[in-house]
Amino acid sequence: MKIIVAGTGYVGLVHAAVCSEFGHEVIAYDNDEKKIEAFSSGDADRIVQYVNEPGLADIIRKVHGKHLFFSTTLADIIEGTDVIFLCLPTPPNMDGSTNLTYYDAALEDIAKHLRERNDLRRVVVVNKSTVPIGTASHLKSVLDRNKVENAGVASNPEFLAEGTAVPEARKPDRIIVGCNEDQDFILLQRVYSKFVHHVQTKYIETSPETAEAIKYVANTMLLTYISFWNGIGAKLGEKIPNIKIDDLRLGVTADKRISTWGSFVSNGAGGSCFGKDIASLIYQLRRVNVDTKMLEASFEVNENQKVYLVDRAINENGFQFNNKTIAVLGLAFKKNTNDMRDASSIKAIERLLGKGVSSIRAYDPLANEAARLEFNPSRNVLFEKIQYVDSARSAIEGSDALFISSDCEEFRGLSRTIEDTAVPPYLILDGRRMIPDFEILVKKGYTYLAVGSMVLEGAKVPTAGA
Ligand code: UDX
Repeated sequence: MKIIVAGTGYVGLVHAAVCSEFGHEVIAYDNDEKKIEAFSSGDADRIVQYVNEPGLADIIRKVHGKHLFFSTTLADIIEGTDVIFLCLPTPPNMDGSTNLTYYDAALEDIAKHLRERNDLRRVVVVNKSTVPIGTASHLKSVLDRNKVENAGVASNPEFLAEGTAVPEARKPDRIIVGCNEDQDFILLQRVYSKFVHHVQTKYIETSPETAEAIKYVANTMLLTYISFWNGIGAKLGEKIPNIKIDDLRLGVTADKRISTWGSFVSNGAGGSCFGKDIASLIYQLRRVNVDTKMLEASFEVNENQKVYLVDRAINENGFQFNNKTIAVLGLAFKKNTNDMRDASSIKAIERLLGKGVSSIRAYDPLANEAARLEFNPSRNVLFEKIQYVDSARSAIEGSDALFISSDCEEFRGLSRTIEDTAVPPYLILDGRRMIPDFEILVKKGYTYLAVGSMVLEGAKVPTAGA
């Protein structure tokens, strides 16, 4: 098959690389020349500046020039194409609707080139990025308006999680294909035949609208599940003595029907998908007069989680943030990434600054540079109070309290660093329950306030609670 992948962000580049690894001829197209130049160089350091996924640069090095090619010019690559995957940015508007500006611009361009091709073989244009329900039919109308001959459309949503995108793309749980015509189903079966032969992948063919809806329902369900644990499970542990949240989680998820994933209570879920997709589904459902209270609650619980530990420190521990120096560990939205999109740390840091802290000493093993861009003082002058340091130890040194905002593995060993660098009753706000031996710290007089537990103040412990 000859495949064009239009858009070389995280979804497009991973898809292009893995499709070419499976033997298809793939041309990854993007109008950003710098990006295409970096990918074509095969230089891992340059590739990860744009898309940092374990294993991705290795595949690109291996297949580039054999099955995988890069281009910034549609006219050069359009002839003889069987499938075009659209992997374009679809950012949210303020009202939750989806901004299709980039998508539409690229689509018009592709339609124009498809109209002008000489080879009139069947081509199917596929939505891979998350787009509102009904976008495949919009895609078809743009192709028709441009008088593109012998072209079909499909919806084939992407479900990859960051950090594990390459192995998941090689062995996906499911491949969802929504088409209106049999010949287009057959083309996509040929694309995916090599993936599904070797693994237990569910291959589901349906209507384009159902395929589009599957992505939204999956992501909002995952976020709602996390919000259930944060809004109910964690609160039980925080309000009722002797509830041990970790045991609660183990007991509940021992039921095979209840997922372990998502049961880890946290200071909110972030990333490029969950917040955007739930806001979009709320918007889409409201337009067809469906009550969206349940999704709104799930969204609100998640947003509240990002800041409420600061308020708990004030209310439950009497801590005053004014003029204090706070160490913040974990800036990206989760471990093993430098992605700051919708990271909980953003709201937490804004709340800390709003409470008058004098400085923030911030550290993330991968995301310091990305955070520097996110917390640009031109957006909020208070961001000048953030200093970026190169270790957890140096963030904690000289600080008055610690806020752990993501689940980087290295934070699990923090108790020794805390003992070495901070004097009790130093306050530890743990948004991810990252300190397994917190009881030792509490016995030594430190104050431990975590998602899912009552505040544990050194002098008053230890009997029960966490
Ligand atoms: C998610 C979906 O998993 C993926 O299928 C979809 O295509 C894109 O969105 P991703 O954004 O990479 O993937 O992150 P994921 O690993 O799902 O985590 C999302 C957020 O939830 C993170 O902030 C994570 O730390 C948080 N989380 C996850 C919890 O708070 N508790 C958990 O138990 C699991």
